[in-house]
Amino acid sequence: MNKKIAIAGLGTVGLSLVKKLVEKKEIIQQRSNNSFDIIAVSARSKKSRGVDLSNYEFFDNPVEMVKNTDADIYLELMGGTNGLTLDYVKNVLKKGKVLITANKAMLASYGEQLSELADENNAKILFESSIGGGIPCLKTLREGMVGNNINAIYGILNGTCNYILTTVQETGKSFADVLSEAQKLGYAEADPTFDVEGYDAGQKLSLMASIGFGIKIPYDEMYFEGILDFMTNEQIKSAEKIGYSPRLIGVAKPQSDGYLIYTVPALVPVDKTMGNIKGVVNGCIINGDMVGDIISIGAGAGGDATASAIISDIVDSLKNNYTMTFNTSTKNLKSAKILPITERIGKYCIFGDENILKPKFGDNDIKYLNSVKDVFVIENIKEEKINSVLNGINCNLVRIEDC
Ligand code: NDP
Ligand code: HSE
Repeated sequence: MNKKIAIAGLGTVGLSLVKKLVEKKEIIQQRSNNSFDIIAVSARSKKSRGVDLSNYEFFDNPVEMVKNTDADIYLELMGGTNGLTLDYVKNVLKKGKVLITANKAMLASYGEQLSELADENNAKILFESSIGGGIPCLKTLREGMVGNNINAIYGILNGTCNYILTTVQETGKSFADVLSEAQKLGYAEADPTFDVEGYDAGQKLSLMASIGFGIKIPYDEMYFEGILDFMTNEQIKSAEKIGYSPRLIGVAKPQSDGYLIYTVPALVPVDKTMGNIKGVVNGCIINGDMVGDIISIGAGAGGDATASAIISDIVDSLKNNYTMTFNTSTKNLKSAKILPITERIGKYCIFGDENILKPKFGDNDIKYLNSVKDVFVIENIKEEKINSVLNGINCNLVRIEDC
């Protein structure tokens, strides 16, 4: 059955999607064994966008588009958490249609509510592109690893931050200049504080944790930090000398008494998986009890990479191939205890005056390694303890994630 598609949002992602659906129509139809047509589009302004949109009905209000069209698949590529965006998707779901969205911000806050609305109306929500840009993270977790208990998820989940951290490290350019490049390249959110303050990576990790562990979306309880000023350029150089690079890393792990779920700027070994992920690339390591580590790496942001993941959702819809939104019915999602970051037990790097720090370590039975002056690596210690030992001392404590 030919399926009709309506697209809300014609920015970086929406416009790439339209171009690719036109350019690749034949192959998509062959591979889905079905046909489709774009029938309508929506954006704030009807300005010329360098792409021929004349065959599609135009709406400057996406809610009006849902009310006045009879598409099978509605795309939400506008961004925003509440307001018109939420109204639009609710209207799509109430109509019993397929919603495909790239919007992790909205899903992290309203995912369960929207999933229930979808269940009530026999509608579907697909959101592969909302996590990891073009990487099929969700397909891996929901389908490829469906028989596994998930032991851990590690992720570089924000392309803008990874681009900034690795470019600053490699070129010595200023943070502000590199952020502005990332914006021009279409990687950053409309409000880039969502990227650099860690919200975006936290939203993505919270959705993966919910699906991986079968728990309610932990976005409001999880811990996250951004990358602003977490290390000086000089400290980044010192860390490099002992084999570490800075990354924004998400970690989600079940513990005996709850879950540790956090996204933090950290140091990673230069010669391990995450240390080799550079530029706008994202990566995730998902550990399952049957298969061990599954590692996926690829373009984490940008119009075409994101459109690639959206087309995978569109093809699933053309084939009527659906999974439940969170891999179980919404009512089965468990309430989970999310542990504070102070419960983290792991490695830390401390940058500070060794004359002040060394005696502190001795007094507290803490062993350290340091091969560079005023840089210490401490292993296997609880964050609560290291915080108390360092209380009142002028130094910079940076977590190390060995992934
Ligand atoms: P842009 O800001 O480039 O585009 C947003 C589009 O939505 C614009 O066409 C805009 O219209 C339209 N829009 C915004 N508000 C309204 C409104 N009130 N009514 C009608 N149209 C509206 O965003 P992106 O394409 O970068 O991102 C879109 C979504 O995709 C976001 O949720 C983002 O998080 C997600 N995403 C983005 C990625 C990326 O690399 N950029 C990667 C993965 C996900 P107009 O053009 O007229 O202003
Ligand atoms: N701003 C996001 C990023 C887009 O940089 O990763 C992809 O979700």
